[in-house]
Amino acid sequence: MTKKIIIGNWKMNPQTEKEAEKWFTSISQSVGRVKNTEVVICAPFIYLDKLTKIITSKVKLGAQDAFWDDIGPYTGEISPEMLYNIGARYVILGHSERRAMGETNELVNKKIKSTLASGLVPIVCIGEKERDPNHEYFKNLKTQVNECLKGVAKTSISKIIIAYEPIWAISSTLNRRDATSADSREMAVFIRKILSDISSPEIVSNTRVIYGGSANERDAEDFLQNGGVDGLLPGRASLDPKKFSEIIKICEALSK
Ligand code: PGA
Repeated sequence: MTKKIIIGNWKMNPQTEKEAEKWFTSISQSVGRVKNTEVVICAPFIYLDKLTKIITSKVKLGAQDAFWDDIGPYTGEISPEMLYNIGARYVILGHSERRAMGETNELVNKKIKSTLASGLVPIVCIGEKERDPNHEYFKNLKTQVNECLKGVAKTSISKIIIAYEPIWAISSTLNRRDATSADSREMAVFIRKILSDISSPEIVSNTRVIYGGSANERDAEDFLQNGGVDGLLPGRASLDPKKFSEIIKICEALSK
């Protein structure tokens, strides 16, 4: 059985390094006795170096994007290798907020490959904009998985974390609505089936599928127990160390 994982996506927060340190330290303290849950904070690039120096922490660090090549004249970009070298171990790829700025499955695919080569764990976000009555969203999700993972070695698939994040449930989406644990379970089963078709049932049983989209301390237990997932990717709730720690504690209690 894979270990459950709680990943905080801080997005473009907080505004100062001091505050980032404060949040991270607070989360680290509450994670002190956690044994059965992996905890990751995906912080803005500029805070990663500082946060990796809080060495007593059991909380691992991740970035929120990485470039698809390791070296070259790419003004403004950050390579997976650079991230690995400063101590990050995870990276979110293909988040819907980046896809909205033009990131395609093809680009995510290149990023997954360079990220895996650097030793980072890719957290690959997929999810539909809406649930249309003709159920086209199943087809779209399948295309996302297949195109993002095209050419990725079967043996590498279990190193990837797939984050199912329905855009209509993300906290920043206008007129958003809550997803239920049943929505999550249905899609987690579907994603595992797609993964199984391109790898094997054994590989899929070692591949983590997690849920994100306004996950919080009130619904974490339901999603973790009934949502068919191996963890959560909270955004807004991860900006409050108390709420985020609460989610970690819930996960830990369920994993014992
Ligand atoms: P949210 O963000 O929890 O604020 O909806 C999750 C995400 O976008 O990764």
